[in-house]
Amino acid sequence: MIVLDKEKHVFTLHTQNTTYQMKADENRVLLHTYYGPRVEGGDLSYLIQYADRGFCPNPSQVGQRRDYSLDTLPQEYSTCGVGDFRLSSAQVEQPDGSRLLDLRYESHEIRPGKYVLEGLPAFHGQGGETLSVLLRDPFSGVEADLLYGVFEEYDLITRTVQIRNRGDRPVRLTQAASLCLDLPPAGMDFITFDGGHVRERWMNRTPLRPGVQSAGSTRGTSSHQHNPFVMLCERDAGEDHGLCYGAALLYSGGFQVEAELSQFGDIRLVMGLQSQGFSWQLNPGETFTAPEAAMICSPRGFTPMTHRFHRAVRERLLRDPYAGKRPPVLVNNWEATYFDFDEEKLLNIAKVAAPLGIKLLVMDDGWFGERNDDFGGLGDWTVNRRKLPGGLEELVPQVQKLGMQFGLWVEPEMVSENSALYRAHPEWTLGAPGRPAARGRSQLALDLSREDVRDYLFGALKNVLDSTEIAYVKWDMNRSFTDIWSAALPPERQGETPHRYILGLYELLERLRRTYPGLLIEGCSGGGGRFDLGMLYYTPQIWCSDNSDAIDRLRIQYGTSFCYPSACVGSHVSASPNEQNGRVTPLETRGVVAMSGTFGYEMDLCRCSEEEKAVIRRQTEDFKRYAPLIREGDYYRLTVPFQAPGYTAWAHVAPDRQEALVSLVTGSTWAAQPFVTLRLKGLDPAARYRINGGEALWNGDALMYAGYPVPLMQGDYQALQLHLEAV
Ligand code: GLA
Repeated sequence: MIVLDKEKHVFTLHTQNTTYQMKADENRVLLHTYYGPRVEGGDLSYLIQYADRGFCPNPSQVGQRRDYSLDTLPQEYSTCGVGDFRLSSAQVEQPDGSRLLDLRYESHEIRPGKYVLEGLPAFHGQGGETLSVLLRDPFSGVEADLLYGVFEEYDLITRTVQIRNRGDRPVRLTQAASLCLDLPPAGMDFITFDGGHVRERWMNRTPLRPGVQSAGSTRGTSSHQHNPFVMLCERDAGEDHGLCYGAALLYSGGFQVEAELSQFGDIRLVMGLQSQGFSWQLNPGETFTAPEAAMICSPRGFTPMTHRFHRAVRERLLRDPYAGKRPPVLVNNWEATYFDFDEEKLLNIAKVAAPLGIKLLVMDDGWFGERNDDFGGLGDWTVNRRKLPGGLEELVPQVQKLGMQFGLWVEPEMVSENSALYRAHPEWTLGAPGRPAARGRSQLALDLSREDVRDYLFGALKNVLDSTEIAYVKWDMNRSFTDIWSAALPPERQGETPHRYILGLYELLERLRRTYPGLLIEGCSGGGGRFDLGMLYYTPQIWCSDNSDAIDRLRIQYGTSFCYPSACVGSHVSASPNEQNGRVTPLETRGVVAMSGTFGYEMDLCRCSEEEKAVIRRQTEDFKRYAPLIREGDYYRLTVPFQAPGYTAWAHVAPDRQEALVSLVTGSTWAAQPFVTLRLKGLDPAARYRINGGEALWNGDALMYAGYPVPLMQGDYQALQLHLEAV
């Protein structure tokens, strides 16, 4: 609900449990007055204190008043060069060469329905309202239209900014953040999710210290190294208590998020496009739209924040052809064969897979062009007839005869120099003239900011998709961007290339989605190198990591779970010893971990013993039974991975609390272990539950407050799965 106090120019956004407020003051400065637990009270600007602070300049229109400074007041969208020395939200090179931007309240509008962002991913709402607050630089024609969407039942506030040039000469934008959040002094921690390839989204929590702390990506993708989801929380906040804020950017390219603890203890969070290397020329009359950001405040810890993000993402962001349905359990041949496969090998895998309850065969990298290793072939999206003599037309019906659907891998954004496409169109790659571009995995990036490149790719993919029945596409992307330069743009617009690339990528994916609405597209970038809400809008699941070791995955999936629901998390059972780290784990354990995601197999099933096949058959049956719970249930982190006493546990609980799936994995073993009692969460305290179909009935309150005695388990990396059903 958006409440407006017209006289005082106070704008209040209420969600079910939170309130967000801003106010245009007598100087038309848009102050941020509050974001926190829901309060009904009107104007909260009494919270703002004024004092004469040294070296904090005063705007000219306040005369000799010294207690009014942009440097001390909480700003709704911070400016640049005119008196606020904290993080800026937007930066503009004005026609006179100055880099000054002052933004003052001009007007506002409350519109029914949520705003729509042309060509950008966004939460979509039925009903809802939009608040638009127009700010203007009084000395140039630059305007910033702040847009807010309110999703009450999810406690979700979305926002973005549209920057417009109303002047008569071009200006150059060099920063356009989507979110600026000023919070009053409080001891707060900054939480980010960081790592690298095969080590994505490890949670890092550090107290804010004076100055700026940041995370971001200059790689042209949201990256393995940092994630465009962060949190701020009270120092003692945990899963079930303490004030916390989660902020996510719906964007798949370079981003930056910065948290600043200012000299007076107040906190500013700014999140948006990466400004290193970014510039955007805005001609008179033109508008730049920043990507959407999403915020959720939880007054009671991380778990409610996670539940709200998960529900909002599932119900208001993903456009998942399998929403409300059971997705097929798949087998992917990558870790089974790598590039060394042919029709016979694939069919052999499918023949073993089908009777085990696996319903989708995914043919990974290597089926096209001259792609026999990762040095060539990318760009030539026609079947390699040496491997598949009869083409897809012959292979797919044979797979279907086994009762399975068919899917395949593509990496459309890339090209190998050893390819017909590159030989025909070297100018289609990113790279400046006269400067040999760096290779990543021996490949170059196509320039998706170009329409001709996108048209070619759409045509090439359409040829493949129309040639036979394809149910699933794994859309991969395997390098970081360097040598950013587009042959299609003039020199003064080269700073636009990275963002235009992402807009091009979104356009291509949207075109594909519209043409093939039933097609499931899984995103991937060397695993989780582009795991963000922007990508999820187009590809409702993303391969979480190239690291398929169940034990490493505990930490990766833990970090991922804070914002992203299990239904989005691509996870498969792979061979043991694991291909990435050589660890040996039981098949049961690999199944339990992979089930907290999309679930499938990525190993040579032909090498499995009859005993292993029996385990796999049971796992696929279990997953079919548990899939609705895993995909739509509330997610509870019951422990922090690897914290003493050495096990990791989590649970999915049905929204009506009648059913739950508790998963637990132990670490490396040691003798004389302590007994473990696991306290469950989210159950109905008054209900009685049967566990794994056993005779005994367990009280919900006792399971939550007293706990469940975990039996002692022998050996490394054991797993336990408890399926609770209320009677
Ligand atoms: C990336 C993906 C893998 C696999 C390979 C194929 O690394 O993350 O899953 O598809 O590419 O080359």
